[in-house]
Amino acid sequence: MFEHLAAVIPDPILGLMAAFRADPDPRKDDLGIGVYRDERGNTPVLETVRLAESALLARQTTKTYVGPAGNAGFNQSMEQLVLGATHPALSAGRVRSVQTPGGCGALRLGAELIRAAQPDAVVHVSTPTWANHTPLLAGSGLRLERYPYFDPATGGVQFGAMTAALDRLPPRAVVLLHASCHNPTGADLSAQEWRTLLALVKRRQLLPFIDMAYQGLGQGVDADAFGLRLFCAELPEVLCAVSCSKNFGLYRERTGSLHLISSSPAAADAALSQLVRIARGIWSMPPDHGAAIVQAILSESRLREQWASEVEAMRRRIEELRLSVVQQLRRHCPQRDFGFIAHQRGMFSFFGIDTAQVHALRERHHVYMTDDSRMNIAGLRRENLEYFAQAVAEVLAK
Ligand code: LMR
Repeated sequence: MFEHLAAVIPDPILGLMAAFRADPDPRKDDLGIGVYRDERGNTPVLETVRLAESALLARQTTKTYVGPAGNAGFNQSMEQLVLGATHPALSAGRVRSVQTPGGCGALRLGAELIRAAQPDAVVHVSTPTWANHTPLLAGSGLRLERYPYFDPATGGVQFGAMTAALDRLPPRAVVLLHASCHNPTGADLSAQEWRTLLALVKRRQLLPFIDMAYQGLGQGVDADAFGLRLFCAELPEVLCAVSCSKNFGLYRERTGSLHLISSSPAAADAALSQLVRIARGIWSMPPDHGAAIVQAILSESRLREQWASEVEAMRRRIEELRLSVVQQLRRHCPQRDFGFIAHQRGMFSFFGIDTAQVHALRERHHVYMTDDSRMNIAGLRRENLEYFAQAVAEVLAK
């Protein structure tokens, strides 16, 4: 059966993670995979996660199944975190949620629901988008197309080209949007751009599928949800895929949620029954542990406050690194303007060097970023910013 299968090249992000781990050089720096790192290069367990986890283990009395929609308390806490506690879609009973194995599970589940509703639907993704969006969404059988998004000349969004392309789509076309901290570019929509996009999406009757994997790491927990909340308040239908990997540091616990905003409570109930059926046929029930931790944190006011300050500390560190790395690059590479890094948000920036230069950084200086020159800003450390800027200067001079 399997003898004829050829080996495939590893996923670009995971392949890089393996190459970094195998590099024995002590100066090595991992700007590859999107995980938060502290000043020592570690990805720590959040203090609030530790507290919630130990209390949870002490009081847990069973490991029986939670059910295909997951932990109801977690789903409710996530709705409130994502939408805000007083969101009109919540009071109108238009929101239904399913706990998923990470944001990836949510993306796949959402794609499967779209496919069940309309098998020939096309999902439009930004150019570029997160590498794993393609297999996650297209794996459901949906066709993917691209719309212009990133402008390499400014490091921002080509909003005119983006809206011109979206304005040509037929009704019920699906548009995948990044809520904030765009992966891989760090280029986000402004509040005004979200408003303009809302009018377009309404006019063309498009279905927004919003991926929120970095809430709190861009401009703040509420600010990062601005566009998502606006869309969910103003549109009859929205899908939101949410990840707790980064803002709760729960990467390996695979914790996420899919939120469906429907036109009416009855339509929402019917769609939820479909989501539950689809989830049952893929992973049956989501893993419990990470979601139980998140629920414990979000439902206990002291823990929640402490968590909010932990997220804020991560966000601040990234923001400060953005400013500092721009300063260092200005000193060591004055011929090139990297100022855009300071205006971008979240973990990533598209550095804008070519693949040969990315490889030279990796091979000669042990600095790892993906071939498209996406760099994880959180992987930088204050103590080696100068080393990094010098390495970039040397590579650019070749
Ligand atoms: C990334 O983009 O590096 C992260 O979202 C991790 C992953 O799974 O690719």
